[in-house]
Amino acid sequence: MSQRTCLSVILAAGEGTRMKSAVPKVLHTIAGLPMVAHVVKAAEAAGSGELALVIGHGADEMRKAALKFAPKAEAFVQEKRLGTAHAVLAARAAISKGYDDILVMFGDTPLIDPEALATARLKLAEGAAVVVVGFRTENPSGYGRLIEKAGKLVAIREEKDCSDEEKKITFCNGGLMAVAGRHALKLLDQVGSKNAKGEYYLTDIVEIAAAQGFDVVATEASFENALGINNRAELAQAEGIWQQRRRREAMLSGVTLIAPETVFFSHDTEIGADTIVEPNVWFGPGVKVATGAKIHAFSHIEGATIASNCDVGPFARLRPGADLRTKAKVGNFCEVKQAIVEEGAKVNHLTYIGDARIGAGANIGAGTITCNYDGYSKFFTDIGEGAFIGSNSSLVAPVSIGKGGYIASGSVITESVPDDALAFGRARQRTLPGKGKELRERFSQAAAARKKG
Ligand code: UD1
Ligand code: CA
Repeated sequence: MSQRTCLSVILAAGEGTRMKSAVPKVLHTIAGLPMVAHVVKAAEAAGSGELALVIGHGADEMRKAALKFAPKAEAFVQEKRLGTAHAVLAARAAISKGYDDILVMFGDTPLIDPEALATARLKLAEGAAVVVVGFRTENPSGYGRLIEKAGKLVAIREEKDCSDEEKKITFCNGGLMAVAGRHALKLLDQVGSKNAKGEYYLTDIVEIAAAQGFDVVATEASFENALGINNRAELAQAEGIWQQRRRREAMLSGVTLIAPETVFFSHDTEIGADTIVEPNVWFGPGVKVATGAKIHAFSHIEGATIASNCDVGPFARLRPGADLRTKAKVGNFCEVKQAIVEEGAKVNHLTYIGDARIGAGANIGAGTITCNYDGYSKFFTDIGEGAFIGSNSSLVAPVSIGKGGYIASGSVITESVPDDALAFGRARQRTLPGKGKELRERFSQAAAARKKG
């Protein structure tokens, strides 16, 4: 089948306003990736390299954003929203280039399964002219019904055009359609608009093709393939299904999730076997975790690389550019941004590390802050191998601490410290014997005098 050429036409014009958003509907995200990009990925996974994106008039912002995720796609504008067949025909120039297979998908249906697309293409390869991906549901209202005669698909009837008998049919059109490229334009050009909505329905090509003796086939896929997102409640529903699938995939690939329903992945999260993820962990985009890591509860991680056997959290925040090397530790209430934490280094408590390198085996005491920003620019802190940073130290960047350097607790370090040096950056302690008692007496007498007066 791989020799067959394939064009995917993704319809995303004429979006409603039920998202109540300034952002076009298909750019709302599932697992951090715009819906339309999920559709593009599914098309690519089903071997469809060529993409035509049909967008509405004045959708320039959307064209730009969508093409970021599908640089190879060609965008076509459907000037008026006259129906799904009309929308497909907006991409006439692409279709007429001549492909074996044409896939039609909706940009707001992000959970489509590449398997369903591949099955549909297989049917085309076997000689079908039109393949409809259907699904069964107890609650078919709103969907086009698949009308079969003697086991053959003969038409799709939209809800508004259904007779009472037809409304009882529970086999529905999921919206995915595959059409033989050599017949596609001929079939689409015959579609009229005599129906309850006065639209040019893509679904009408089923009846047209069947009546002309073409082979028309319905395949069956799961409901998710048809889950169209029209509002934010449906967006959350799709997110939920996506997360469920991904968690299962992670667990089956050797990752332990103690409370899977509380762990959230991004579309591109990579996570290695024997990693244990405790409850309530969030993986934002761009996270790679190698094997055997422990991600403790309530950690928030994005754009970070975590090498094998690292220990993260609980309550750790790893921001973009956090790069933890083998066996590094970042503990509770620590934030790491744009910094390398080399092998075995420890950042265990209440610390901010930004724009820095921490050498192998270094120990960063509780409350250490890299002061990386002066309100205008960011500066770098370099901490050498095996260095020890005493608790509650501020390292004012740009600054470097040499290998084995030792920083006294509570220091404010503004000058670089050479290898193996000890640095104090704080006032010396003075201890005055008996003075504490004297002070207490003085204060209590003063308070008593004030009460009397
Ligand atoms: C469509 C199908 C229906 C199916 C259902 C599955 C048709 C006629 N009906 O109905 O059989 O059960 O999907 O969800 O195809 N669009 C355009 N331009 C247009 C019209 C639509 O780009 O002029 C795009 C929309 O942005 C949307 C998609 O096509 O992404 C589907 O259109 P919509 O009007 O939502 O069709 P449904 O009534 O849901
Ligand atoms: Ca719809």
